[in-house]
Amino acid sequence: MKIASFCVKEVENKRTTKSHVLPIYPTSSFVFESVEQSIDIFSGKQEGHKYSRYGNPTSDAVAQKIADLECFGMDLEAEGLLCGTGMSAISTLLLSLVGKGDGILTQGNIYGGTTELFMSNFERLGISSHLESLNDIDACESVLKNNDSIKLIYLETPANPSLACIDLEKIVSLAKRYNCVTVIDNTFCTPLLQQPFQYGVDYIIHSTTKFINGHGNSLSGAIIFRKDDERKKEIWKSMKLLGTPCAPFDAWLIHNGMKTLDLRMKKHCENGQAVAEYLDAHKKIIKVNYPGLTSHPDHEIACKQMKNGFGAMLSFEIDSDIDGMKRFMNQLQLAVMAPTLGDVDTLVLHPATSSHLNIDRAIRIRNGISDGLVRISVGIEDVEDIKEDLAQALDVV
Ligand SMILES: Cc1ncc(COP(=O)(O)O)c(C=O)c1O
Repeated sequence: MKIASFCVKEVENKRTTKSHVLPIYPTSSFVFESVEQSIDIFSGKQEGHKYSRYGNPTSDAVAQKIADLECFGMDLEAEGLLCGTGMSAISTLLLSLVGKGDGILTQGNIYGGTTELFMSNFERLGISSHLESLNDIDACESVLKNNDSIKLIYLETPANPSLACIDLEKIVSLAKRYNCVTVIDNTFCTPLLQQPFQYGVDYIIHSTTKFINGHGNSLSGAIIFRKDDERKKEIWKSMKLLGTPCAPFDAWLIHNGMKTLDLRMKKHCENGQAVAEYLDAHKKIIKVNYPGLTSHPDHEIACKQMKNGFGAMLSFEIDSDIDGMKRFMNQLQLAVMAPTLGDVDTLVLHPATSSHLNIDRAIRIRNGISDGLVRISVGIEDVEDIKEDLAQALDVV
């Protein structure tokens, strides 16, 4: 062999003992021993990785861990796929469940990107969306009765940023009566606070970019389904053909974050509750949306479903005009203004001009996302520092 060829050649893997932490496989493809093996693996006769768009050992391992968490302690087995973002997980899953002529029943108060995807891209593909309060079972039933094209119910509980909670048992029972599948975005809770499979939900989505990673250093999304799900091949096919899998390095970062998920969620919940109570008692605050407050309209639903705490997400309205709200946000010193959530540090956002910018104002306002609403993702700092920061910022309003 000449030196040029030797430089190009891959090295032999020198691993002798098992690595303690999950290895990253930054490879686009995998090597076959023979053409016979290639045929067997491509045809499914033999298990094996082939091309990272079809699956990658790092991403697959992390997807399985999230699936295991979603059925932890239950008599159930689940599997999952890891996509490049939360949005790609949503589009990959939904495009394998619905198509032209089908309808989706959903709420108008969820993450703005999801509503926008449904109302623009999906509408263009001939998939219609029907917005209804998913806690109003009679209203939902009437929509389903009048639209037999609806095949899927999509929800968030608690929703972003309204923090409205949906009774999973009731909505799943309605969905089953009308032969609809149910999809929940469990990003705000993570499986540590809420396990939707317990209530019969069919599919779970996560933006793992948020709490599951927890450190704001990767983008990804998970699709979780039951092991015996009859559509799982179709879902995997969508990921493969739409080209939406997660990069192995991002998967590896998620796994690093997941090791402290239990610790983080406990602290997030403790701080979230304390900040919600602090704001609720503040004379300059007119409304706090947090499911852990007894005054929250869906508090009982949250108590039933969010078994280990009410999370770190809350939103509130200040008793002032828009300029006062802006002064408050600009004055914050500890809390960071960044359009994400679920990181270890406290983050603030003005939904009307960021996450929900492209949502029709009338829909937004009808669903409690007012022009003055501020969203906080409460971090795991010392809660006294968070409260002090909020106090000094409210002083300038
Ligand atoms: C509840 C929820 N779901 C999904 C998404 C989309 O996730 P990603 O940004 O990872 O695509 C977001 C983004 O903020 C979100 O808040």
